[in-house]
Amino acid sequence: MIFITGGAGFIGGNFVHHWFERLAKLGLPLEPVLVFDKLTYAGNPLTIKAHLDAGRATLVQADIADRDAVRQALAQHKPRAILHFAAESHVDRSIHGPGEFIHTNMVGTFSLLEETRAYWGAMNAADKADFRFLHVSTDEVYGSLSDTDPAFNETTAYAPNSPYSASKAGSDHLVRAYHHTYGFPTLTTNCSNNYGPYHFPEKLIPLMILNALDGKPLPVYGDGLNVRDWLFVRDHCEAICQVLEKGRLGETYNVGGKNEVKNIDVVTTICRKLDALRPKATGKYEDQITYVADRPGHDRRYAIDPSKIEREIGWQPAETFTSGIDKTVQWFLDNTEWIDSVRSGAYRDWLNTNYQSRVA
Ligand code: NAD
Ligand code: DAU
Repeated sequence: MIFITGGAGFIGGNFVHHWFERLAKLGLPLEPVLVFDKLTYAGNPLTIKAHLDAGRATLVQADIADRDAVRQALAQHKPRAILHFAAESHVDRSIHGPGEFIHTNMVGTFSLLEETRAYWGAMNAADKADFRFLHVSTDEVYGSLSDTDPAFNETTAYAPNSPYSASKAGSDHLVRAYHHTYGFPTLTTNCSNNYGPYHFPEKLIPLMILNALDGKPLPVYGDGLNVRDWLFVRDHCEAICQVLEKGRLGETYNVGGKNEVKNIDVVTTICRKLDALRPKATGKYEDQITYVADRPGHDRRYAIDPSKIEREIGWQPAETFTSGIDKTVQWFLDNTEWIDSVRSGAYRDWLNTNYQSRVA
């Protein structure tokens, strides 16, 4: 079985869906998953409810920094691989409160590595040779590009700029060191911005869709010309499956969709889709766009060069930004039960914390 940290979050939850659909599509035997998740504000068991109800997935609610809980789960469920998604993942939250990011992304990853190394060390030779620890990371560890810089590749120097990206960079370095020092069988993926179903609505794309539908301002940071390289979440999930199967131990793989888009263009694209699918009584959704104070230390541009994963693994994204954003907007129009479930008091508190202080 597969041990998935953070499997109730956005990408981990999509991964659970992708895992079972992929096994069925390829005619492979059903291999269950253990979701090990603290269920922070970003974790939602409703995302994976169908798989939990069917008994294919099991949820353990615990912190990856709780070494007793990790040790017990490993001993009980005996996974053949760890897919490590769990993290504090939102840059703006890391600016308001970096402590949780150090706890989960660095101390948590260290704890998980230590317990998994002990578990792996006690395996028989065959299981030991097959075991994998796949660390899911981000392109933000490489810092910020100018408009003319070449895209990030696997040899680009690390230059993280936010507490979030610094904590992810720290975790990447630990994973690297465990391979080089202990021969621990690691794989690392550094992916660009994901979007799609089950995206927590504090991030740009789901926030804009829901604010637009609610008639609220669409808060664009700074001049709106920052660039992100967008990848539909299921394409990221498929990349992880393929790296797990074919990746070379100790290697890192950059994952991206060659879909660089300026933030303002993302927002206007969403507005125009909503104009077509759910027209307002009067005016256009773009009328709600409001420029607000910029994010401190805001990285200007991210772009991924995915040549290595294309060449060595044979992965290619299935979605373009146009096809992926269509699916995403439609999903948010259709899934009100899930949306209602995440609009808790904690979510409203965050909106107050982040946006009330931003002067338009
Ligand atoms: P998310 O914030 O939506 O989900 C994180 C999940 O981890 C949640 O279910 C949360 O409950 C869980 N979690 C948090 N702290 C935990 C802890 N201490 N112990 C156990 N579980 C804990 O994040 P996401 O967007 O799904 O990102 C998943 C991973 O992918 C992260 O490592 C992130 O750095 C990386 N990543 C994200 C993106 C993106 O665009 N979202 C892009 C590249 C890489
Ligand atoms: O690049 C990968 C990273 O992408 C992941 O590692 C992170 O976990 C993920 O959150 C994401 O980080 P970003 O900071 O790029 O994503 P976010 O959705 O927060 O912001 C995207 C862009 O939109 C960024 O330039 C800031 C801007 N923005 C964001 C919000 C929430 C706005 O203009 N207004 C907003 O209200």
